[in-house]
Amino acid sequence: MAQKIIRTIGVLTSGGDAPGMNAAIRAVVRSGLGKGLKVRGIRKGYQGLLNEEIIDLSARDVSDTIQRGGTILQTARCEEMRTEEGQQMAAAICKKYGIDGLVVIGGDGSFAGAQKLAHLGVNTIGIPGTIDLDIACTEYTIGFDTAVNTAMEAIDKVRDTSTSHERCSIIEVMGRDAGYLALWCGIANGAERILMPEEHDYDEAAIVADIQECRKRGKKNYIIINAEGIGDSINMAKRIEEATGMETRATIIGHMQRGGSPTCKDRVYASIMGAMAVDLLMEGKSNRVVGYRHGEYVDFDINEALSMKKTIPQYQYDVAKALAL
Ligand code: ADP
Ligand code: F6P
Repeated sequence: MAQKIIRTIGVLTSGGDAPGMNAAIRAVVRSGLGKGLKVRGIRKGYQGLLNEEIIDLSARDVSDTIQRGGTILQTARCEEMRTEEGQQMAAAICKKYGIDGLVVIGGDGSFAGAQKLAHLGVNTIGIPGTIDLDIACTEYTIGFDTAVNTAMEAIDKVRDTSTSHERCSIIEVMGRDAGYLALWCGIANGAERILMPEEHDYDEAAIVADIQECRKRGKKNYIIINAEGIGDSINMAKRIEEATGMETRATIIGHMQRGGSPTCKDRVYASIMGAMAVDLLMEGKSNRVVGYRHGEYVDFDINEALSMKKTIPQYQYDVAKALAL
């Protein structure tokens, strides 16, 4: 098949935002322009594409953005894109604006949209952007490093007051379907317990018994990291306080984990992935997703990437438990 010559590319961010997305957008824009392409920014994800919220981007439009959280293109979730009609319309709009190649920064859902567009003739490349780290084909996703550091710092602060008052603290971190943020905070903050959506049937009676045992041994606080997917932190705190007699407070860190200036790692990895996405388009590739594995930047077929499964590494979870003596 003859390779399609790419003259104009588009870039959009989709799904939940993540710190470092701006670094990726900036890299797509500047490396695209540097290779003689025209670059168009699509606002508000697939919804913005369907609404034709499309702007030309110059190198100056992405000045002063690498250090900013959020996404300058904004993001959205879009039900219409899940329908065949919506997908056809999105592909037709890409054609109308001359967009031969589209870089989609988001998670698995966003990649599913990119896959549909690729089948409709728009060359697409996905870049993993989510604070949840829940994309199977890659060990790195844009935003996780910043989010986990934000959460870690917040948990350190809660621990200080928890120790002063000899309390149990339940700290809820993000992750509706994935426990990576919880696991990493659990290890980094030395938590006694980590509750993750992957283990819905956690044993609250065992936690109560452990708290009582720890109290007997003179422990001055008890930290439980609870992922959003388990949730219910406020009621859990009431139940635990009642059962143990230890004052218990719940803190829900919430969306502050999704904002803030990206870490060095998020800026650098996102920049390289953005540039790589443009290179792949220039090579005539489509329906691919960029990833980072075994110390290297790699790319996968989206179909293959979406069929991969990711699970919490049992060894890491065991270590977290072993260190919580
Ligand atoms: P993420 O990209 O972070 O996984 P979502 O799952 O919310 O976030 O997906 C983001 C958007 O991608 C959705 O709002 C929708 O527009 C699009 N999308 C999700 N799944 C599909 C699908 N199966 N087909 C087409 N588009 C999809
Ligand atoms: O971006 C991922 C994530 O933050 C999940 O951890 C969380 O469950 C979800 O998005 C919440 O998204 P929102 O509140 O924007 O719907």
